[in-house]
Amino acid sequence: MRFALVSALALPLLASAHGPAGLQHHHVRDTTTASAAASSASASGSGTSSAASSAASGSAAASSVATGTAVASGASSSGFGTITFTLASTNPTAIPYSSITYGAATQTTHAMSVTYTAGSKPTDIPNAPPIPNWASLNPKNYPTLDKTPPTDSDEVKQWIQEVANSGVPIPDFAPTNPGGCSNNTEAAKNATLCWWTCGGCDRDYDVSACPTKDNWGLTYDDGPSDYTTDLLAYLDQQDIRGTFFAVGSRVISRPALAQAEYIKGHQVAVHTWSHPYMTTKTNEEVIAELGWSRKVIKDTLGVTPIYWRPPYGDIDDRVRAIGMAMNLYPVMWTRISSTQTFDTLDYDLAGGQANPVQVLDSWDSIMNNSTQIDTGFIVLEHDLFQQTVDIAVGYILPEALAHKPAYNITPVITCLGMPMANAYMETNDNSTNKLPARE
Ligand SMILES: *[C@@H]1O[C@H](CO)[C@@H](O)[C@H](O)[C@H]1NC(C)=O
Ligand SMILES: *[C@@H]1O[C@H](CO)[C@@H](O)[C@H](O)[C@H]1NC(C)=O
Ligand SMILES: *[C@@H]1O[C@H](CO)[C@@H](O)[C@H](O)[C@H]1NC(C)=O
Ligand SMILES: *[C@@H]1O[C@H](CO)[C@@H](O)[C@H](O)[C@H]1NC(C)=O
Ligand SMILES: *[C@@H]1O[C@H](CO)[C@@H](O)[C@H](O)[C@H]1NC(C)=O
Ligand SMILES: [Zn+2]
Repeated sequence: MRFALVSALALPLLASAHGPAGLQHHHVRDTTTASAAASSASASGSGTSSAASSAASGSAAASSVATGTAVASGASSSGFGTITFTLASTNPTAIPYSSITYGAATQTTHAMSVTYTAGSKPTDIPNAPPIPNWASLNPKNYPTLDKTPPTDSDEVKQWIQEVANSGVPIPDFAPTNPGGCSNNTEAAKNATLCWWTCGGCDRDYDVSACPTKDNWGLTYDDGPSDYTTDLLAYLDQQDIRGTFFAVGSRVISRPALAQAEYIKGHQVAVHTWSHPYMTTKTNEEVIAELGWSRKVIKDTLGVTPIYWRPPYGDIDDRVRAIGMAMNLYPVMWTRISSTQTFDTLDYDLAGGQANPVQVLDSWDSIMNNSTQIDTGFIVLEHDLFQQTVDIAVGYILPEALAHKPAYNITPVITCLGMPMANAYMETNDNSTNKLPARE
C-alpha cells in the first residue's frame, strides 16, 4: 500500500525537508518545525542529497518554463524522466519544475499583507460570530505541539463524556499496529473494520467526491505553514476558494493565517492535533486529537468545524464513530479502485520519494481520470511545504484552470451543494444538514 508505507518513511525525511532560513526570524512558537530545521541545517548544508543533484541535472529542460514560456514541450525530458503530455503552465512566476524537489534551496517566505482584526466576519457566512483576537491566544493553554495530547486533562475528560453522551456506539476494535496494512494482515482483510487504508472501504457519510461531474472540491492539508501565504495569494488572484484541513499544532503556531483562510472565504476543517495514524490510537487518544484540534480552531475562528480529514486517510469504523460522536464528518479523497486514489504525490515530492515529473504525470492522470468518472472529485494536496505550494501554484492550479471542459473549483462544502455556514457547528442549518452525532 503505497501511501501507508511511503508516508511512514516520509516523516524523518520531511522534517529535514524544512530549510532553516524561513524559520529563523518568526514563528518561534512553532518549536517542532524550528527544531527540525535546526537539525536539518547540517544535512542540507552538505549538498550531497541525491534529489539535489538530480535537480541540477534536470535544469536544462526546465529553463523553457523558467523563462516564462507558457507551454512546455510534451517530449521534454529532465533528470527525472519524461513528461508524456503537454504542460500548459500559465503561471509566469512558476519556478522551474525540476527545481521543485527535496533539498531545494529555501525561498524567502512572505508575510501576509493583511491580518484581520477581532470582530471581522467572513462575508459568506451571514450568521457567523465575530472572530476573536488571535494575538490573545496563548500556546501555553494548549498541548505540546506535534504530540498526541494527554488523555487525563479536564478538557479531554469532558470530550470523553461528550462521546459517551452522544449515543453513537463506538465499535470495540483494538487499535491497529503501526506500519499499515502489511503489519496488520488480519485487520487489513477484515471487512468489519471498514479500514479505508487497506482496500478503500468507506461508509455512506464519508465525503469522497463531489457529486457533480467536473466539480473539484479543492483541499489542502497540514497547514497553515509559512508557505500558505503564497498559496492564499494565488487563490485570491484566481478567485478560487478551497478547504484547508488544518493541523491544530499549526493553527496555534500561526493563528492569523488560519483566520485569513476563513475570512477570505475558504473552508477550515479539522486534521487532528499532531497528525498521527488515527487507527493506531486508543479511543481516548483519538478523542484528544480531535478535541484539541476542534477547540483551537474554535478559539481562533469563533466557529467549530463539522468536517475532518484523517491524516493519511487512516480511518476505520471505530475512528469514524468517535468522529461522528464529536460532530465531525470524515472527508477523504477520491478513490477509483482499491489501489488508486487521487493523490498528487506532492507530499512525497517534499520528502524526496517522488520527483516533479512523477507529480506532474500523476496530476495529469488525475485530470484524465476525472473526465471518465460520473462524479466530481477531491484530490490530496498539502500546503505544508515550499515544494507542495510551488507545484500547486506553478503547475497544478494553472493546469486545472486550462482544463477543458472547465472545472468548477470550490471548497468541499460548496461542491456538496451547501452554504459555507454548514461547514461549522454554530452556523450550520441543522434542519437541512443534520449534525453528525444525529445522523
Ligand atoms: C474482525 O474484527 C472484528 C472486530 O474486532 C472481530 O470481532 C472479528 O472476529 C474479526 N474477524 C476476523 C475474521 O478476524
Ligand atoms: C509492527 O507492529 C508491532 C506491534 O505493534 C510493532 O512493535 C512494530 O514496530 C511494527 N512494525 C513496523 C514496521 O511498524
Ligand atoms: C492524459 O490524456 C492525454 C490525452 O489522451 C494523453 O496525451 C496523456 O498522455 C495522458 N496522461 C497520462 C499521464 O497518462
Ligand atoms: C487513471 O489514469 C491513469 C493514467 O492515465 C491510467 O493508467 C489509469 O488506468 C486510470 N485509471 C482509471 C480507473 O481510469
Ligand atoms: C445547530 O445546532 C448547534 C448544536 O446544537 C447549535 O449550536 C447551532 O446554533 C445550531 N445552528 C443554528 C443555525 O441555530
Ligand atoms: Zn495530513
